Amino acid sequence: MPPYWGLGFHLCRYGYNSLNNTKQVWSRTREAGIPLDVQWNDLDYMNESNDFTYDKEKFKNLPEFVEELHKLGMHYIPLIDPGVSGSEKPGTYPPYDEGLQMDIFVKNSTGLPFVGKVWNRVSTVWPDFTHPHTVDYWLRQLKRLHHEFPFDGAWIDMNEPSNFWSGSSTGCPDNNLEHPPYVPAGVDGGKLFYRTLCMSSTQYAGHHYDVHNLYGFTEAIVTSFALAEIREKRPFVISRSTFAGHGQYAGHWSGDISSSWYDMKKTIPQLLNFNLFGIPLMGADICGFNGNTTQALCQCWSQLGAFYPFSRNHNTDDGIPQDPVALGPAVVQSARKSLLVRYLLLPYLYTLFWKAHADGDTVVRPLFFEFPSDVHTYDIDEQFLWGSALMIVPVLEEGKTDVSAYLPNAVWYDFYTLAVVPASGVQHTLPAPLDTIPILLRGGSVIPTQTPNVTTTESRKNDFGLLVTLDEDCRATGSLYWDDGDSLNTYADRGYNLLNFTLAESQLTGSAVWWGYNDMPALDKVTILGVQKPVKSVFVNQASKPFSYHTINKFLKVENLQIHLHSTFSIHWI
Ligand code: GLC
Repeated sequence: MPPYWGLGFHLCRYGYNSLNNTKQVWSRTREAGIPLDVQWNDLDYMNESNDFTYDKEKFKNLPEFVEELHKLGMHYIPLIDPGVSGSEKPGTYPPYDEGLQMDIFVKNSTGLPFVGKVWNRVSTVWPDFTHPHTVDYWLRQLKRLHHEFPFDGAWIDMNEPSNFWSGSSTGCPDNNLEHPPYVPAGVDGGKLFYRTLCMSSTQYAGHHYDVHNLYGFTEAIVTSFALAEIREKRPFVISRSTFAGHGQYAGHWSGDISSSWYDMKKTIPQLLNFNLFGIPLMGADICGFNGNTTQALCQCWSQLGAFYPFSRNHNTDDGIPQDPVALGPAVVQSARKSLLVRYLLLPYLYTLFWKAHADGDTVVRPLFFEFPSDVHTYDIDEQFLWGSALMIVPVLEEGKTDVSAYLPNAVWYDFYTLAVVPASGVQHTLPAPLDTIPILLRGGSVIPTQTPNVTTTESRKNDFGLLVTLDEDCRATGSLYWDDGDSLNTYADRGYNLLNFTLAESQLTGSAVWWGYNDMPALDKVTILGVQKPVKSVFVNQASKPFSYHTINKFLKVENLQIHLHSTFSIHWI
């Protein structure tokens, strides 16, 4: 279960190069009214790219900045690479000295630490995350860094594990593990150790050959454990390398993609796949990583990225700045508008994450998951669902102001006008003005919302709303999971609330299936879509209430409800 704040918007780049620059980008994003929960720093915050250090000149006031973020209800995440420097003076760099003492580095075939090179000045050695003592080692390093500046999560990179050399400085020994009879096509010169560790290097669990693909996964397990120990709150870990089972411990971003329309489009099948793999907390670098993005691309990508379960704008150090403000008012408008929709829908997204946590459900879903008997849905990868209720249809081509969407057989409503979309079972054209991402709501759903604000810490205090969409039988159901959003094990320890909502025969009923957490804002607004006949009266728990009914778009709105969700309630109309 990710912390609630982790579902907010994240801002990052490689090469802010100073705290001043980081702060400038952070504050101009806030000044533009763009929702933002988490500021990140890449490698450049470190001293000479060495893990567990920070540059005390260029990032001098980093600890104070992290405190400032915390006071504002915001969070901070630094990059951590798995490999540590293997060439610092003895006694000056505890991550290396302690790793040697504890004997937890991956070893070469002669039993010495395996030496390669990543970002470190001279050389790199790798903790072996299958070694039982590495848990203590990693916890110590992270704790020491946390003591310097109290970061909130970990971005674990380069953990395939990636190495700038193929093997060590002299390559790898000539043996069967390095040169097995069959190697995957496309591997450089038939070398399995191409830009990674030697296959005959050894880890506690076996030869690197046998556990190579588990390196990132084992790092994620240990990192997630260490963060929970240090912060005593829910860990938030985003990793580049993953394996089956990873979703229990961490999320994923898809690495160094290009700032291109093609790569943006391909992020949707990646999202769909990772949800099928059981790793729902997934996203791609919004506006692309490598190369220079453009205003038009970043505008569309900011809208699509607002619907990545993990939503972060990040790019390379040799590209132009691509935070929304740097790209001008059109990108700002698109980012702000789409992220405000995201923040409005966060109670629904969070409930989906709870279902993924409790039952192994997908969060982002391909259409065929919901419409398995409709063969037309099988190869759709340019539109996707959040759960069963929300369909996102992003613009994926430059200059387009409408999109063609396939609408499987159901009642569909336009999120913005709340009117029914008069077609299903067909290809339908939806308007997509440049600052708007088309979103449809599926009939039969009750979608919990919350008035948005610019951080989740603030939006979590606001009143709830319900978007209720009638299906062809004028029914709807849905649920809302709520807890403090940050404590460990709230579901297992039953410190949460679970509300179920049902609509039938012109009556919406809500009741708590479980109530284990008292700090829950009231339900203030209910909007019911697809009410065909004009409404004469509305009763809330039998008492008559003012309402508004939109005769053209056919929705009913009841506001100022202030319903305490602890008790069962009903809203009935005639
Ligand atoms: C890797 C990461 C990228 C990061 C860079 C520098 O390429 O994938 O996101 O910015 O390393 O740390």
